[in-house]
Amino acid sequence: MIPILITGGAGFIGSHTAVALAEAGFKPVILDDFSNSQQSVLQGLETILGHPVSCHVADCNDYNTVLDIFQREKIRGVIHFAAFKAVGESMDEPLRYYHNNLGSLITIMEVMLATGVSDLIFSSSCTVYGEPEELPVTELSPIQPPASVYGNTKQIGEEILSDTVKADKPLKIIALRYFNPIGAHPSAQIGELPLGVPNNLVPYITQTAAGIREQLTIFGDDYPTPDGTCIRDFIHVMDLAEAHVSALQALQVINTTSHYDIFNVGTGQGNSVLELVRTFESVSGQPLNYRIGPRRAGDITAVFADATKVNTRLGWKAKRSLKEALADAWRWQQHLGTSDSAG
Ligand code: WQD
Repeated sequence: MIPILITGGAGFIGSHTAVALAEAGFKPVILDDFSNSQQSVLQGLETILGHPVSCHVADCNDYNTVLDIFQREKIRGVIHFAAFKAVGESMDEPLRYYHNNLGSLITIMEVMLATGVSDLIFSSSCTVYGEPEELPVTELSPIQPPASVYGNTKQIGEEILSDTVKADKPLKIIALRYFNPIGAHPSAQIGELPLGVPNNLVPYITQTAAGIREQLTIFGDDYPTPDGTCIRDFIHVMDLAEAHVSALQALQVINTTSHYDIFNVGTGQGNSVLELVRTFESVSGQPLNYRIGPRRAGDITAVFADATKVNTRLGWKAKRSLKEALADAWRWQQHLGTSDSAG
């Protein structure tokens, strides 16, 4: 089996990608500093896969340690998730975010060049589109000035990739621009583990339904949308995980030494916050306690993907419904119980 390094592999998307990689016949090798993930993820992965997953506790910025892992594990490709990702926190701690998010990417690329490993999948984000003028967004939609330091680290990350390939360095790279990953593996053995009060909508919903949070606040219902609440492209995390496998398989058959391409990975469907709440209520069979509050600074009105390119060029298409994603998220929350997932 081909060993693939997953940096940040104990995180939400990383752990689900480890499952998808194993199911596709690859050998996932996790590298994580556990600054924003829990060791319990490894037990969950072992339960799902029926065997332990190789894991190294390390900082992606530590060149020598990363080099040693590449050599010992005979790494043949990399999926790079490791990054800090709290939009609000990034505004308070810009140097920490630039150092970690860009430093780790550069270190990984340097080790790849030093060891002759060429295939790299980069975790990017639809935040690069900002508040799009036209919907759905394609990969050619204008890149807006970043609304946060976090978003800027993704934009600069893409420029680092592009410039390195333009310099004919022997790397074959695909950047995947994610939309809103939600849900959990249907086994409820792994899922989203927000530490502390969740920033994101779906974990806040499930924690409210579980009685951990008193009430969901919907941040504004006065947007220019059909029901006044924001619209997003909510994609099942297992669909997103499988898109990484499709991208890796695409790189394996590219015979040029230097390659860079970008794909939107979304369902192509926009749903509003209120639609999500209603769908969750039907899935959970219980009303959700929520109120309408003021808008949240930095939120955009609407964004969802034109997924034509990823559908046609990578042969990948989202296949799980919003209802399925919310059912899986709720099952995962019930598995966690009514205690705060921060433990
Ligand atoms: C979604 C909607 C909120 C919480 C995320 C990631 C970002 C990027 C894209 C990867 C918004 C509303 C939320 C709540 C609410 N992903 N909301 N009450 O902001 O689209 O961005 O996905 O790079 O990194 O952060 O996701 O889940 O925070 O918000 O009303 O308690 O839900 O206003 O309209 P967002 P989100």
